[in-house]
Amino acid sequence: MKILIVGSGGREHCLAWKISQSPKVTKVFCAPGNAGTREVAENVDISADDIASLIKFAKKEKIDLAVVGPEAPLVAGIVDQFEKAGLLAFGPKQNAAMIEGSKAFAKEIMVAAKVPTARYEVISGIDEAQMVVGGFQKAAVKADGLAAGKGVFICQNRGEIMSAVNSLLQETIFGKAGSRIVIEELLEGEEASILAFCDGKNVKMMVSSQDHKRIFDNDVGPNTGGMGAYSPAPVVNGLEGRIMKEVMQPVVDEMARRGTPYKGVLYAGLMVNGKELKVLEFNARFGDPECQCIIPRLESDLVEIMLACIKGTLGDVEIKWGKNPACCVVIAAGGYPGFYEKGKQIDGLENASAFEGVLVFHAGTKLANGKVTTNGGRVLGVVGTGDTIKAAIDAAYTGVSQINFEGMQARNDIGKRALER
Ligand code: AMP
Ligand code: GLY
Repeated sequence: MKILIVGSGGREHCLAWKISQSPKVTKVFCAPGNAGTREVAENVDISADDIASLIKFAKKEKIDLAVVGPEAPLVAGIVDQFEKAGLLAFGPKQNAAMIEGSKAFAKEIMVAAKVPTARYEVISGIDEAQMVVGGFQKAAVKADGLAAGKGVFICQNRGEIMSAVNSLLQETIFGKAGSRIVIEELLEGEEASILAFCDGKNVKMMVSSQDHKRIFDNDVGPNTGGMGAYSPAPVVNGLEGRIMKEVMQPVVDEMARRGTPYKGVLYAGLMVNGKELKVLEFNARFGDPECQCIIPRLESDLVEIMLACIKGTLGDVEIKWGKNPACCVVIAAGGYPGFYEKGKQIDGLENASAFEGVLVFHAGTKLANGKVTTNGGRVLGVVGTGDTIKAAIDAAYTGVSQINFEGMQARNDIGKRALER
């Protein structure tokens, strides 16, 4: 089979790495990819959002399966358009990807499916906001549409709530994505990510993971795309059955009932507080960097699972996971998530991957004059595996210690929560 992976992050390098090992696969392309995907795939210079060019390429190359990494093309309907062109693509169709594309829609699905989530209001006008805000002491104020992971404001009092509402509705800092907003009660607890393969009807949960969203150690500083992750996440130990029964299966059932079956990866961002379990958000894809610590633990053939999701035969597939934990430490450019420079030469990549139990996935990198240089905010994800979470963390940091570029930053405490438990 010929596979086309769409995207250019650490997640896509990880997917390309795994998929290239499938006995079914003869050739992998990655559009647009990065310096790392070149090692396991052929990069194609087409952006992940240029659906028309991707289809043209897929037809010309007779691609058997496209695998879509990021949310933007999914929400724009890439899977529907591939299907119309007679091509196979893994991921939810547009009206199912809406679970990530609109936070108000996600809430509507959760209410209909009786999935536990924070109390909320949806509003689209400033007058309405003034009436509603009185009902909240503290709140998360969220742009309804896609805002590249930056559309959520955590507000500790009414003043902060009103200022977030103003930024979205009056100053329109996210344009149309923020013209409708969700205000919801602020939840306390520890977050975890649960991802599942879905075929429209059947759901198979992956091993659990936990992201680290803030830029600095001890979870301080601004939010990022994710500075590291580990798997499994002890915070959800023993809750897997409930997550399946109270969250994953009800959502997939509700989507099927509406005639918009959910196929692909369903990602639930959970808040766990003792025995209480609530959903913060859904994503319509693999998480990044969660993917990089989940997929290395998968022993089964990922392509076979993806095909089963598309065909609706996931119930017949046995999915095997390795016991060893994994930990992914993200190395970012200096200044990220604010302004950062590109084009810094990266040293030590080969030394890092030479260690046993260490994998280096590229994110914002590119090849320039034969040298790997930085080309984005999140630059690399160094994954360690080992027979304990401690061993996995140590392996990841051994890898990180080999790598060097000007201004690089990484958190030093990825996985600390798991160790504390
Ligand atoms: P979301 O994109 O909805 O996951 O929000 C991004 C981040 O904001 C989450 O990972 C949480 O850290 C935080 N967050 C979102 N909603 C809430 C909430 N209701 N209570 C507390 N934190 C939240
Ligand atoms: N790591 C969070 C996300 O992929 O949305």
